[in-house]
Amino acid sequence: MTARLQYAVFGQPIAHSLSPRIHAMFGTQLGIALDYRAIAAGHDDFMRALDAFAREGGVGANVTLPLKQDAAALCSSVSARARRCGSVNTLIRAGTGWRGDSTDGSGFLRDLAENHAFEPHGHRCLLLGAGGAARAVAFALADADVAHLAIANRTHERARALAAAIGVKVRAIGWSDLAAADPFDLIVHATAAGHATGKFNAPARIVATQTLCYDLSYGHAAAPFLRWARAAGAKHAVDGLGMLIEQAADAFAIWHGRRPDTGPIHAALRHDLAASLSGA
Ligand code: ATR
Repeated sequence: MTARLQYAVFGQPIAHSLSPRIHAMFGTQLGIALDYRAIAAGHDDFMRALDAFAREGGVGANVTLPLKQDAAALCSSVSARARRCGSVNTLIRAGTGWRGDSTDGSGFLRDLAENHAFEPHGHRCLLLGAGGAARAVAFALADADVAHLAIANRTHERARALAAAIGVKVRAIGWSDLAAADPFDLIVHATAAGHATGKFNAPARIVATQTLCYDLSYGHAAAPFLRWARAAGAKHAVDGLGMLIEQAADAFAIWHGRRPDTGPIHAALRHDLAASLSGA
């Protein structure tokens, strides 16, 4: 009997990760037999857990909070895009080591284009946050040839360092400067404020009716930003469920050589999310 291919997602907390479900649905859709499980690991035990996984036959893994930079550091080789943003979310077994890639940026751009009909090219964009999640998005937007990308973050120095790492057309702005800013075409929320405080606030003037307001998280964590965006007049306020599914599809394509159709997966997970948010 041939052993099923072994995959996993590592992170902390990980119990509620949707990735096992998403990859199981992809496998079913394409007729690829695979096992994909969630493994809890933090900075201290990630290396040990990943070694054990490899010994048990693990051939690919996703990595999420707080391990994306740890993963980048342990790889024997990394893709150019992962090296640029200093973050790895996809591991591919390569001999006795791991190759690292990052599908967060490509998943984000694909979700924007295919599910929200938004092409960043030539647009004025604002990124709120400068942590790990923000980095991949910032590089992806710069590569997509935006007209301008402003980055605001609670700790200004972090925004400045990220803007400097990317270069032209990108600048850090102080959170207080938003009070005098013109509306943006795209506002991406990438801070942990929704998780941490359940609140979000920024001047309403940065939002126009057509501004696409996008939260990288989903569920309760995305609610404060999305509420603010709608109250500020945005017609389009969306969460990051689509990005989660599209980055998973890009990782799946790296491992299996075929990209699943994400449409039915979106529909199923959107339905489940709405049911869990309404307490059903
Ligand atoms: P992630 O990988 O999810 O981005 P991170 O690297 O810890 O996690 O970054 C979290 C982001 O949320 C940062 O931009 C952080 O701001 P700082 O750089 O100032 O820490 C931001 N953040 C976290 N809690 C916040 C809060 N209560 N209000 C505003 N920003 C917050």
